[in-house]
This record gives sequence, C-alpha cells and structure tokens, in this order.
Amino acid sequence: MIKRDLLYEGKAKRLYETSEPSILWVTYKDQATAGNGAKKEAIAGKGQLNNQITSMIFKKLKEKDIPSHFIMEVSETDQLIEKVAMFDLEVVVRNVAAGSFSRRLGVDEGTELAFPVLEFYLKDDGLNDPLINDDHVLALNLADQKEIDEIKRQAHNINQSLIEIYSEAGIRLIDFKLEFGKAAKEQIVLADEISPDTCRLWDEKTNDRLDKDVFRQDLGDIIPLYQEVLDRLTRDQKEK
Ligand code: C5P
Repeated sequence: MIKRDLLYEGKAKRLYETSEPSILWVTYKDQATAGNGAKKEAIAGKGQLNNQITSMIFKKLKEKDIPSHFIMEVSETDQLIEKVAMFDLEVVVRNVAAGSFSRRLGVDEGTELAFPVLEFYLKDDGLNDPLINDDHVLALNLADQKEIDEIKRQAHNINQSLIEIYSEAGIRLIDFKLEFGKAAKEQIVLADEISPDTCRLWDEKTNDRLDKDVFRQDLGDIIPLYQEVLDRLTRDQKEK
C-alpha cells in the first residue's frame, strides 16, 4: 500500500489517498484542541496513543460483530481505513450527565441517566457543531428516516459494547461521540475514532478523569492518562 496525496487535514488527524482507491491512510497528530480549536497545543505522544486506542477499540468491536471503517494499523501513529461517504453528523450517546448536557439542562455532572440519551449535532466548525433534532436532520437532508433509524440502532448497540469493553478495563463510560459513513452498497458503518478525545472515561473506583476533559479544563497532563487507558485495554486483551 502506497501513501499518496493529502486529502484532508483535521484537528487531530491527516487523511491521505493511497494506491488503492477504496482505502485511505490516516495519521494521528500530536495535537490537542478544545472549544472548537480555541485552545490548541502540541502534545508529544498523543497521536500514537489515540491511534493505538482507537485501533484496539475497533478490533474489540469487530469481535462483537460491530463493523467499522477500520482495516489495520500500519504504524504506531497510522492506520488504514475504508473510504466511506461521511454523514455531516456527530452522534453523542450519554449514560451519565456531564459536559454540555449538564450545562444546558442544569443537571449535576455524574447524575446517572434513566436510559442512554442520544443526541445529533451538525458537523460544522463555523457554527460550533450545533445540537439538532431528527427533524433538522431530515430537513437539512443530512440523512433520511431509514438512515436515522439505522444510525440510532447502531449507536445504542455500540454503547452497550463500549460499556462492556471499558468496564473490563475498570473504566466507566460516561458519554462519547460517534461518526458514521456509508460504505459500498450503501451500508452504514461506524467511522472516525473512539479514544479519550471523543469519550468521557472515569475510573470505576475513584471517578478520576481519564479523558480530554483534563486538557479542556487545564487539570494536568493527558499523556499518562491516555497511556493508562491503553494499558488497561491491552492488559485485558492479554489476560484473555
Ligand atoms: O461537550 P459534550 O458534553 O457535548 O460532549 C459529549 C461527548 O462527545 C464527550 O465525550 C466529548 O468528548 C465528545 N465530543 C467529541 N467531539 C466534539 C464534541 C463532543 O468527541 N466535537
């Protein structure tokens, strides 16, 4: 597989074409951003941790029959993925109140929700990724009703699997963000990344934060925390 032209550069990843038209090459960057890029820092070692964590999670999801765009890791910071047509949607699933949910609705952070709450956000940096509902998704032609239903079904299913995967690593899954794309034959698949950048992860015993909130709120160095998440996920893998 030969890496070709840069296709897209995001806040945390670079996407390249490859010699195979249906496959893309992703490089995870040593950069952390928060507040839609308002806070931005180079953090050595973050790229390889997020690549390894995401790869590990996608592999564990595959074992649970959850498909994704992930193909394989090609180096510590790089992976190959299937090229999919992305929905301009961010799908957030929340098990426990935190972050913007707590701020918007006045619910204390850490409050268990009666059931997993799914939210859609429009993927648009210029608008700060606003919260939208199903009608907005339909009216803006972001997805049709069948696709909305399928995305929701998969997101809830992924939530159950992620709760199990993290729980085996002694971690509580508070909430997370997913993105989906359409692969060959219009099949809807999980895409993008699943890492401590995109999930709120709290230590099961202490509720210590093991995720990007530590960077967002200037609470310390995220590298040892992300390393801890990777070590715990790997330890669990070795014990099996
Ligand atoms: O900020 P908020 O509470 O809405 O975030 C919910 C979840 O989605 C968090 O786990 C956060 O890390 C993730 N998220 C993300 N990318 C965004 C917005 C939120 O990964 N652009």
